[in-house]
Amino acid sequence: MLSMKIVFVLGLAVTFVSAGLVGGITELSGADLKEAEDTLNNSLSKLASGDGPNYKLGKIIKATRQVVSGSKYVYDVELIEGSKTKVCNVEIWSQPWLENGIQVTFNCPEGQVVKKHSA
Ligand SMILES: *[C@@H]1O[C@H](CO)[C@@H](O)[C@H](O)[C@H]1NC(C)=O
Repeated sequence: MLSMKIVFVLGLAVTFVSAGLVGGITELSGADLKEAEDTLNNSLSKLASGDGPNYKLGKIIKATRQVVSGSKYVYDVELIEGSKTKVCNVEIWSQPWLENGIQVTFNCPEGQVVKKHSA
């Protein structure tokens, strides 16, 4: 009986950890992945209509979210630039309560670019 309880509590702990409730990194799927895609598209279009870079989202290979001060999304994505497609690692650190609180870091084959924009 006691061991059943221990197994249950351990199972619950594993569930919380994998749900990212303790600041862990969660791989996203379903509705969370959709929301992450919205966040990325929003950043890409804000930057494209500002001082660049001018990218469109091709496809998301993998996306994770971490709860830090705000949310930190990390994506492996195909980005489309004109007629070229490249695979980049993109990090979006979102602190929407700050002025220019969205920081986007592109790690692409040709190097790293860091940009900030408003929420
Ligand atoms: C994000 O942008 C891409 C390319 O413009 C588009 O195909 C996709 O449907 C958009 N995703 C969302 C969630 O709006």
